[in-house]
Amino acid sequence: PTSVPKELEIRRENPSVEEETSQTSQPKKIPSITTARKNPAANGIRPNIQSAPPPSDQSNHSSSRLPNGKAHVQPQNGLSRKREALLSTKKGLPIWPHAEGIRAALRRNNVLVLTGETGSGKSTQVPQFLLSEPWCSKCIAITQPRRVAAISLARRVAEEMGTFMGTGKAAKVGYSVRFDNATGPNTRIKFLTEGMLLQEFLRDPEMEQYSAIIVDEVHERSVNVDLILGFLRNLVADLERGKAKKRKQPLKVVIMSATADVEGLVKFFDDGLKEETANGEAGGEAVEETNSVTPGAKKDKKMAKRSASDDTQPQQDNRISTCFVEGRQYPVKMVYLPEPTDDWVESALKLIFRIHYKEPLPGDILVFLPGQDTIEGLEKLVKDYAEGMEKDVPKLLALPLFAALPQHAQQLIFEPTPARTRKVILSTNIAETSVTVPGVRYVIDCGKSKIKQFRNNLGLESLLVKPISKSAAIQRKGRAGREAAGQCYRLYTEEAYNGLDERTTPEILRCDLSHAILTMKARGVDDVINFPFLDRPPREALRKALLQLLNLGALEETGVISERGLKMAKFPLTPTLGCVLVEAAHRDCLLEAIDIVSALSVENVFLNLTTDERKEEAETARRDLYRREGDHMTLLVTVQRYAEERTGRKAWCERHFVSHRAMQNVLNIRKQLRELCKSLKMLSYIPSDTPPAPSEERTKDILQCLLRGFIMNTARFMPDLSYRTFIGNQTVAIHPSSVLHKRQTEAIVFTEFVFTTKAFARGVSAVQYDWVDEVIEKVF
Ligand code: CDP
Repeated sequence: PTSVPKELEIRRENPSVEEETSQTSQPKKIPSITTARKNPAANGIRPNIQSAPPPSDQSNHSSSRLPNGKAHVQPQNGLSRKREALLSTKKGLPIWPHAEGIRAALRRNNVLVLTGETGSGKSTQVPQFLLSEPWCSKCIAITQPRRVAAISLARRVAEEMGTFMGTGKAAKVGYSVRFDNATGPNTRIKFLTEGMLLQEFLRDPEMEQYSAIIVDEVHERSVNVDLILGFLRNLVADLERGKAKKRKQPLKVVIMSATADVEGLVKFFDDGLKEETANGEAGGEAVEETNSVTPGAKKDKKMAKRSASDDTQPQQDNRISTCFVEGRQYPVKMVYLPEPTDDWVESALKLIFRIHYKEPLPGDILVFLPGQDTIEGLEKLVKDYAEGMEKDVPKLLALPLFAALPQHAQQLIFEPTPARTRKVILSTNIAETSVTVPGVRYVIDCGKSKIKQFRNNLGLESLLVKPISKSAAIQRKGRAGREAAGQCYRLYTEEAYNGLDERTTPEILRCDLSHAILTMKARGVDDVINFPFLDRPPREALRKALLQLLNLGALEETGVISERGLKMAKFPLTPTLGCVLVEAAHRDCLLEAIDIVSALSVENVFLNLTTDERKEEAETARRDLYRREGDHMTLLVTVQRYAEERTGRKAWCERHFVSHRAMQNVLNIRKQLRELCKSLKMLSYIPSDTPPAPSEERTKDILQCLLRGFIMNTARFMPDLSYRTFIGNQTVAIHPSSVLHKRQTEAIVFTEFVFTTKAFARGVSAVQYDWVDEVIEKVF
């Protein structure tokens, strides 16, 4: 008998789901977390265990870290055995029957727009389909919005191909993400983040090292993807017009998306090609579908239509192919909250245990939360409660997944679930489309995500927790029905769902554009206003970004990129951080600035402690690292001390409550930034040791470099004991994580602006009022 759970009202989204779900047993009672603390089983709900989950596809590799931290995956038990084992899985993917159609489309045309549900096999299979094509003599690039996806896809594809992944000569597959390049001389398939491909565009505008560029996850519409699309549109058009300067071979471009606006993308590329029509060459309809319509028939029709006007350029027809891969989606039962809640952590916690006690294994749970803080909070609670479960209840394994998580921890979600265990993956929107987590049958969606928002009036960019769009909610729900019928619990009401925006606003319409514009300028795009944007950003946002670059000295008054700007663009950093480094080279404190910037490029050097007791302990232990000048000098001292520690770095970290993994990353980034600075002639040599702790004079120089880059992020102390920004007069409070929290100083500069309950400055240094005035005078 089905009874409606107390707190969750069941609504059905469509009739087919209804049929399916009427078979499933409904939970009788939700374990009450408040009354059964540490023992959710106390209310008598027993686990329903059917079988242990089967090992996932990822189980058969031995992955190891090279001494330099690079990944090296070595297929085990013979390359071919591994490949064979995965072949049947590959053949079962929805994209498999489209292989020939995709190859044929790209033999005819240079651009293919391919859409297919997440998990249909786009990212893993398409590069493999293309590898043996006659036109494909060089490397295939495939972009990803996130590091974790680029790395895990590279591993997976290497396994499927039975080859090595990494830097070695035998490796055919590799990845390149910021500060971590795992590609070798013979890499044929390269997964890289969008930012890395943009960097390559700067070095090699005609992308000569690639035979094909696949742009994946276009629906996420990051600023970087929009720039890549604009550059590719121009490049494809130039190549077709014979205007390329160096490139002789064709370039094939595949645009892939889970929910793409196909028409918009086709029109976008077609418009690029049509510009040649204006010069008297052939135009006409440009779309050709590789499936659902017999290509020949359609082509014949079009040819007939066009031949009346122009017989001379038949090859100009059907220049952009489209392909739709129908997904495999099992029914998903929908459950909404009857009343809105803000306490997602509590609601999710109850649901996790209810599912665990009522639903059979296998079937992992995927929980979508807005960010690292809520994820870590829930992770801890799940672990605490799971400890209190009886012995005969299957185990619960809580695994976090967010962008800043160290690589090895991200990789855990792909490891096979141990016997009699259920995984609970606590993720940001990373798992929405970018990463396919195998084994999931239950989705809990809090309906929120953190998004970057540029506040034009303040000139500051901040991360805000906002409701997701309908399309994101649908994607999240879809994660539950990939392998079998599943369930999706939305921690919001159906009314709230109906009120969501249809789509997420593309990032380019809501974020700071200075990085994007610097990239464009460095790539030779002088007229940014007329750059082919898929969605044109508001003029005001473009103007603000240009102004910001002018203030940073990256542009000349004429709008042309300056020497300084060219250097800044070469760094895989925001223009502000790039500016700090360039300024530091002038003031002769570059090594120190590199250390600070490296520490700012990783999340949380200092461990986040939850209990007051531990917090106090940490405060005492870190006292000799803390600097009264603020967080940046504290970071510098921490990096320097860590680097000097030759033997027991791990123990040193433990003693100081510092994250060892974060510090390993910091040193890796520092090494790369030092090398980059040397290649840009900003550094004459790379020292083998750490510079001595800075004198007072040098400290002043370092802080003034920070000011030069972050002049927009400065605030003065007010008689009412608040801080107000110099520009914009906005109130900000010093974040509790800062060493300057609760301290009063005449002026501050901060490297991050966060808006949670109120506006916070994070990463704060104390500066003198006069210094700020001086820079403002010089800049504005
Ligand atoms: O790109 P798309 O979302 O269409 O699919 P995909 O990423 O190519 O994934 C196809 C299948 O490969 C998924 O259903 C996963 O089961 C598997 N896969 C995996 O096991 N490990 C990865 N790192 C990536 C994919």
